[in-house]
Amino acid sequence: MSKGTYYITTPIYYPSGNMHIGHTYTTVAADAMTRFKRLTGWDAYFLTGTDEHGQKIERKAAEAGVTPQAYVDEIVANTQELWKLMEIEYDDFIRTTQERHQRIVQQIFRRFYEQGDIYKSAYEGLYCTPCESFWTPTQVVEKDGVKVCPDCGRPVEAMQEESYFFRMSKYQDWLIDYIETHPDFIQPAKRANEMLNNFLRPGLQDLCVSRTSFKWGVPVDFDDKHVVYVWIDALSNYITALGYGTDHDELFRKYWPADVHLVGKEIVRFHTIYWPIMLHALGLPLPKQVFAHGWLLFGNDKMSKSKGNVVYPQPIVARYGADALRYYLLREMPFGADGNYTNEAFLTRLNADLANDLGNLVSRTVAMIEKYFGGVLPAWDDAAEEPVGNDLRAHCAALPAAVEEQMDKLQFSQALTEIWKVIGECNKYIDQTQPWVLGRDPEKQGLLGNVLLTLAECVRFVAVLIGPFMPATPGRIFAQLGVEDEALKTWDSLGSFGRLPAGIRVCKGEALFPRIDIKKELAALNPEEEAEEPKKKEEPKKKEEKKMEEKKKGHDEPEFPEVIAFDDFAKCKMQVGRVLSCEKVEKSNKLLRFRLSFGPDGERTILSGIAKYYQPETLVGRQVVAVTNLAPRKIAGEESQGMILSALDNAGNLRLMSVMEGVEDGAIVG
Ligand code: ME8
Repeated sequence: MSKGTYYITTPIYYPSGNMHIGHTYTTVAADAMTRFKRLTGWDAYFLTGTDEHGQKIERKAAEAGVTPQAYVDEIVANTQELWKLMEIEYDDFIRTTQERHQRIVQQIFRRFYEQGDIYKSAYEGLYCTPCESFWTPTQVVEKDGVKVCPDCGRPVEAMQEESYFFRMSKYQDWLIDYIETHPDFIQPAKRANEMLNNFLRPGLQDLCVSRTSFKWGVPVDFDDKHVVYVWIDALSNYITALGYGTDHDELFRKYWPADVHLVGKEIVRFHTIYWPIMLHALGLPLPKQVFAHGWLLFGNDKMSKSKGNVVYPQPIVARYGADALRYYLLREMPFGADGNYTNEAFLTRLNADLANDLGNLVSRTVAMIEKYFGGVLPAWDDAAEEPVGNDLRAHCAALPAAVEEQMDKLQFSQALTEIWKVIGECNKYIDQTQPWVLGRDPEKQGLLGNVLLTLAECVRFVAVLIGPFMPATPGRIFAQLGVEDEALKTWDSLGSFGRLPAGIRVCKGEALFPRIDIKKELAALNPEEEAEEPKKKEEPKKKEEKKMEEKKKGHDEPEFPEVIAFDDFAKCKMQVGRVLSCEKVEKSNKLLRFRLSFGPDGERTILSGIAKYYQPETLVGRQVVAVTNLAPRKIAGEESQGMILSALDNAGNLRLMSVMEGVEDGAIVG
């Protein structure tokens, strides 16, 4: 009997390029959660897929000289290969180009239109014909008095495009109330505050949901000039994959509402504002939770296909196996926070956690059973008291519950930390009990047997519990431990400590994770970085920071000319930005990293040397003023895309410039 159903999804990824380690991160997390739920007795269903429409794909395909369908087919095949390589076992892979999806999207669109949620109007903007793109007045660039496209530099012209819009504003108050009364709906909770403060309370804009300027999309079936634009098409995948709206909707009835949509934090808005409103308009229940995880960064930048600063999993898996990479991704950063991927950090963990802690524990345990008991597990000897291991045995018995508690909160890293605490304790226990000393004394055979049994049972617990994270490793551990009985590999078998039966024959095998030479491996993974001296990288960071700091202190006060031409002033683009997130820059006590929203002009990251004067979390949601057309600069090794304005107060503290009420994010200052 299952404990109930559990439906988990990843975003459906754009097949505009091959998937990288960022997409792998979300997908591995969803897979680990699915496996954990199954292990613990739930009927889990795991959906992933690809979001295949849109102008970008249409263009990429044209550049490659193939049809959009042929273009995405190839990337989807690569994606599915990659998921296989990563040991990802999804139940379904939805593609938005599939007929089963498109038909229902058309049906949903029509229903929204018929019930008055969607209306026809016009989208206004500055249009670049060669790029087929609309730009807002603040996005275009002025060249010799002519407004030009920021992408290609050719002139833009004011244009209107007929579009359908979704009346989002109608549902705003309902959604505010829903979010406020369902604190688990958006996780981590700070994302709920961002949604409320930045988007919902200031008032929702109606959403453009169709386009006529490109063709690669789901046609609106009652107005064939239009294709459905992005989010109605993409978000519906979570229900079309379950057969919603068809005669075969058993899966939908069984699994909807989803237990959790895993998403990267950049698309939390679409999943917690537009998607709930769409579902509500369809009369459907909302997913129980949307969990926004952080980004894998490359320096200070999100890795992304369009920036080309990506790490691909294949070469890593080829050298160290999928389990090592899965472990790293799930262990390295708390789910919800950002983190850097570096080969060095990966290799360090591989050596420390997998080769040393886990690998050594397994090999030492097996080797000692071979050496002292001819490879056969002895029976527990009641006569031989072994008090040293009492704590370890109790700790291990409590481990499944501790792991489950963390997994229920999607805290993969914490769950693994709990397991590794027991592994660490086992290694300490070996040092404390010194089996090699006991082995010399025939009178201590019983005690030695009890020590090794304790270790072998702990290893069995660990093998069962790491399965969801590292699916290939438990089998290898069980083979060495000689555990063949499937009943000893289940969650239920962890109900009490000490079930490993006497008489089992262990079998020493290859090292689970051979220790590696990090320097050599780094060179192999990243040949072009080999020659770089880590120290040299540090220096420019410090110099930049110092310069910035001195400037703030007034040591390096810029000398202003008496007068400047108006045109010079007009070149400086200052805008109101809203703080989406703010955090201290690691390794710097001066810098704060701001992620700012400039409304229709998008988001950017700016570093500012004001960490001494503000607690970063108090700034989230505030509006600040920033120069947004400054050339990007590297500060402390990270790119800063502008400058936030501040002034010194009488006490010598820097104070942020802000604006009075009623100013939209992105508004031009001047
Ligand atoms: O947004 N760090 O697709 P997408 C962590 N099609 N996660 C990352 C990441 C990184 N550097 N890069 C990508 C789309 N991801 C839409 C979604 S859903 C109805 C439509 C992961 O190809 C993360 O889950 O841009 C992020 O949200 C997703 O890939 C974005 O994938």
